[in-house]
Amino acid sequence: MQRILVVDDAEINRELLRNMLEDEYAVETAEDGEEALHKLQGRLRETAAVLLDLQMPKMDGFAVIEALRERGWMQKVPVLIISSEHGAEVEGRCFALGVLDFIHKPFESSIIKNRIKNTIELFDYKNRLEQKVEEQAVTLEQQRQIIRMQAEKLSEEKSFNRLMMEYQAAIMEVETRFHVLNAELSQEYNRNPVESIKSRLKSPESIYEKLRRKGYPVTVESIRENLSDVAGLRVICSFPDDIYRLAELFVRQGAVILLSRKDYIKHPKSNGYRSLHLILNVPIFLLQEKKYMKVEVQFRTIAMDFWASLEHKLKYKKNVDNTEEIVRQLKNCADSIEALDYQMQDIRNRIDKSLSADDGY
Ligand code: GTP
Ligand code: MG
Repeated sequence: MQRILVVDDAEINRELLRNMLEDEYAVETAEDGEEALHKLQGRLRETAAVLLDLQMPKMDGFAVIEALRERGWMQKVPVLIISSEHGAEVEGRCFALGVLDFIHKPFESSIIKNRIKNTIELFDYKNRLEQKVEEQAVTLEQQRQIIRMQAEKLSEEKSFNRLMMEYQAAIMEVETRFHVLNAELSQEYNRNPVESIKSRLKSPESIYEKLRRKGYPVTVESIRENLSDVAGLRVICSFPDDIYRLAELFVRQGAVILLSRKDYIKHPKSNGYRSLHLILNVPIFLLQEKKYMKVEVQFRTIAMDFWASLEHKLKYKKNVDNTEEIVRQLKNCADSIEALDYQMQDIRNRIDKSLSADDGY
């Protein structure tokens, strides 16, 4: 039987409640606040609910609630007020303090039984949910821990480090080629399509996590075979048409093999993401051999890059408030950025025209 604690200074009320409830609960009583706290001490877990009177000598109902709050016990046991007080102000104050129900005296047996039963069930349900969430958080943290450890193991392997060195070499090859192209375009046509280049090697943790997520084996061969974004470059351009020209010139040079191309500028993602993605096979020249490495290149304008960095933050911060609203605002910004990119490009075209700089680029 579940235990219920009835706190009321009037004996007649305590007895009335005891008679009503004792068929279904083990009813205990307390004459005042101090006795109530004493009877809860160490026995919170086994107490299903506290029925609390408001007007009592010495320590009244509000003082009991305060004491429960101070001890953090309001989260551990549901408190229902049983009082002859009426008025929105008193009731509102009770609910604001975390009381779960307010029952008016004189009380009627079937109503009070149902309200107690419902409150206990809801409270249990909420607690179980919270516990589940907590357990899931723990499991998630354990999984992260495992990923960290496995990634560490991976990064201690010689063959893994060798592979990373090769990817780094591929990044350098590609980066240099873009700088050379930019320098040549600058000299020949007075154009600097490359604003900046960022590059990164995927971290051992993300490599491990991605292989596991996609169900691939965690080996050096598998990384080479299955991942195409271990070596990544971002080429930031001034204008959208620079992106297409630069990408085309780069591939046309014939130094790399184009494996795949995704045009999220002509076909933006539903969240508003825009960029041109190329997956390339890039030759690197080592002591004993020539080897091809996969490299992912993302082309964006400055504005697209600005947008993507902010949006990326949202993806990794799951506890951002108002996510739906932020997603909507980001989509709006993406649309504005698109319009802005093309307006700026128009202006540049007009300036070029008035300078009659038919540059042939
Ligand atoms: P991943 O498994 O995430 O690499 O995706 P994918 O293999 O299907 O390729 P996709 O071309 O869609 O994405 C490759 C990379 O582009 C991602 O790893 C991100 O760096 C970037 N990217 C793609 N979509 C988005 C997006 O919606 N927002 C942002 N900020 N970046 C994106
Ligand atoms: Mg990727």
